[in-house]
Parts: sequence; C-alpha cells; structure tokens
Amino acid sequence: MNNNPQPGFDFKRGPSTYFERHKAPTVTALISPDIRTLRASPLSALARQEEFSALARAIRLDVVFHDIVPIRAAKPATFFGPGQVTSMAQKFEQQDVKLALVDTSLSPIQQRNLERDLGVKVLDRTALILEIFGERAATREGVLQVELAHLNYQKSRLVRSWTHLERQRGGFGFLGGPGESQIESDRRQLRDRVSALEKRIEKIRRTRAMQRKPRDTVPFPLVALVGYTNAGKSTLFNRLTGADVMAKDVLFATLDTTVRKVELPHGKEIILSDTVGFIADLPTDLVTAFRATLEEVTLADVIIHMRDVSNPNHEAQAKEVLNVLSELGVNPDTTPIIEAWNKIDLVDADPTDNAPNIPKPKPAGTIEAHAGISAQTGEGVDGLLLAIEDALAKGSRSFKLTIPHADGQNVGWLYQHCEVLEQDEPGEEGTQYSVRVIPRHIDGFLERFGQQLQRA
Ligand code: GTP
Repeated sequence: MNNNPQPGFDFKRGPSTYFERHKAPTVTALISPDIRTLRASPLSALARQEEFSALARAIRLDVVFHDIVPIRAAKPATFFGPGQVTSMAQKFEQQDVKLALVDTSLSPIQQRNLERDLGVKVLDRTALILEIFGERAATREGVLQVELAHLNYQKSRLVRSWTHLERQRGGFGFLGGPGESQIESDRRQLRDRVSALEKRIEKIRRTRAMQRKPRDTVPFPLVALVGYTNAGKSTLFNRLTGADVMAKDVLFATLDTTVRKVELPHGKEIILSDTVGFIADLPTDLVTAFRATLEEVTLADVIIHMRDVSNPNHEAQAKEVLNVLSELGVNPDTTPIIEAWNKIDLVDADPTDNAPNIPKPKPAGTIEAHAGISAQTGEGVDGLLLAIEDALAKGSRSFKLTIPHADGQNVGWLYQHCEVLEQDEPGEEGTQYSVRVIPRHIDGFLERFGQQLQRA
C-alpha cells in the first residue's frame, strides 16, 4: 500500500517543488478538458486554453502539445473516460512526455490514478499556479505565504486520501498497522509546519503593519493599480515612477506589491502601488494568502483597473477582477475605480469608435471609464493622470478652520494628514487654514476639528 499519497513530497524539507527537482525543461503535454457541466468561469474553452498555455510558459517547460479534451462529465476515478486515458497514454509514450498539466481541479485519487495509467507526473491547475507563485515570490512573506498555500493544498489531499484508505480497508472507524501511523505522523508534521509558518507570517505582518503606520498617516492619497495578469500594470508603474519592476510577457511577473511616490500633472503627489495580477479560478488558498499583499487595494483612495483591450477576452477578465475586488471588500460607491484600457497600440481602431473590441464607457457605481492608453508608448497616459486627479478631487473635501496659536499638536496633525491650500496671517483667535482632505482622512479630520469648522 502506498502510505505516502504525494510521492516525492518530503515533509521535513517542506514543499520542494516538482520543478525544483527537475531543473532541465520537462517534456510536457497540456490538457484542457472542456466540460460543459463544470464550467464556472466566463472564459470560453479557447480562451482558457490560451491562458493555460500562457501559465505553462510562465515556468520553464518544453511543451510538445496542447489538446482540448471534450468530456461530458468528470469520472470520479480518472476524471477522463477510459478510452481517452488510453489514447492519451499512447500519445504521451510516442512523444516521450514526462509531465501532464491538466487545466482543472483533480482530486488526489484522480491525480494518482492518472499518474498510474498515463505513466507520467500529473499536475492540476492549482498545483501549476502554486509552482508559478513559488518561483516568483520575492519577499520573505511572499515565500512563506506560498509555502503555506502549498501545505494547505497538500493537507487537504492527505486528509482525503486517508478517508479513501479507510474505506478500502472496510472502514469501521478502526485503523491499525503501519499505514495508519505513517499517515498520522505525516499529518502531524504537516500540521506543525503549517502552524509554525502561520506564526512566522503573523510576526512579519505585525512588523510590516508597524512599518506601514507612517504611510497610513501621510497626506498623499493611495492609488492602487489592479488588473488581470499581463494587463500591463508593471509597465505603467515603471513608466510613471521610473522604477524597474519586472515587466515581462509571463503571467504573474509581479507577486509582491511595490509602492512609489508619483507627481500628478498639477503637482499633487500620490502613492502608487503595483499589485499581483488576478486570474480566473485563483485557488482560494492563494487568494487568502495574497490578501495581505492586496491590503494596498483595500486602503486605496482610487483604484486603477488596467484592462488589456487587445485581448479578445478582456470583458470576461474584467469580470473576474471585479469579483476579486468585491471579495476583498472594495466598494465602488466609496472607492472610485478608473478603468484604463491598455495596449491600445495593438488595436486597429479609434478607441472612441464603436469597435467591437473596445469596451464602451459604462459607469457602474462610481466606476469611471477612461479612453485607451498604451503603457508601452505612453499614449493617453497623461489623460489617465488627469482622470486620477479628478477622481481624487471629487472624493476629497475642502474645509476652512481656525486653530489657536497654542495648539501645535493639531497644526502638526493638519500638515501630516491634509493638503494645506492656504494659511492666513495669524489673527487674535489663531490662524485660519484652508485645507483639502482626502477621503481616507475625512472621518479623522471631522472627529478632531468638527467643532472648529467655519464652513464645510
Ligand atoms: P502581471 O505581473 O502578470 O500581473 O502582469 P502586468 O499586468 O504587470 O503586465 P506587464 O506590465 O508585465 O506587461 C505584460 C506584457 O505586456 C509585457 O510584455 C509588456 O511589455 C506588454 N505591454 C504592457 N503594456 C503594453 C502596451 O500598452 N502595449 C503593448 N503592445 N504591450 C504592452
């Protein structure tokens, strides 16, 4: 009996990845099952196929073919039907395939049976995304988050396989023998590692929250770039900040949020953050894991949603992004979202035309549509910056107030949190200030100065 449901997984070392152990490009087959009953994502089968192949390109693989396999319903034991498995096995053997990536979520049993019947290593979509994240994570927290997501993935497989074994034995709830104790000890080791990791991550997070405090109190508005993976966020970020964030035609080039200061056309400064790209069916574990990285988004005063309008599926991609934003708790009624339609240089049409590929402006809530830009050539970027200025001005409020001379503490607060537009000559009662307050600080401002306001 196979006591270790994940052959090659070494609990003591942690989730050493498949690719880490196989440095040379692995001969790989991509399989995109087309199952009507399972299709949860709005992306079409063809679009999913393209995306899956882009995911596979994100790590070094020697992909020899990519088949769409239509199936009516998933088989519990092998996912595919027996005839399909046999013909796949033949093709794999002919082409010397070593690894099959299947664009679906496989149960541990399906995975194991397929590996046995196909004679190759089999990974599903979640495992592939975990591999990519594992390769990309750069910060200590990112690395730990991916490891945690990996372990949780393994843990669920271990538990399920255990139940499976129990059933095989006739299962009266009584287990004995070496098989049981091995699995029990694997599970314990896994649990220990998960809780050790959680503690380390929590510690890093606390430290980071402390480091971020000053940023929470700066008067500069926070603007977050979000978008489907490969939309061009890093390219725009680099253009605006002169930074050198990796912008590559591979998915998930950016895993950790990067933050820089940017000056808008009329001199106002903002803090711009580049975030991890979104993707359809991002494993829930990873969404949770990267929630921390996406905190920037929930704190943002304005969100820029980058859309790659040269991609025929940008509508479906945009829906996925909006889903994740709402999962993160972003409310478009309070946080303006500006859509930036990127890669306009690749689209042969006037963006203001009724061209089928260009979304028409359709404000929903406070989602503002913006004409096309090209992060690469710079076209339209100035207009986008003006749109950010506008959105910030709309959300901000201006006040006039007088602060007594002796109240140095409040004057300090004012300069730290608000944009001081005017400061009059000191009078008898104190100094009068005209200030503009960004949405994030309005509550705090009113709490502190509500009594002293002359005019709201
Ligand atoms: P993730 O890190 O996966 O989330 O990607 P991203 O959204 O940060 O995309 P990135 O900036 O890495 O760009 C992806 C690819 O698109 C790169 O090859 C860029 O050079 C290219 N690209 C970005 N903007 C444009 C554009 O306006 N026009 C064209 N032609 N290509 C662009």
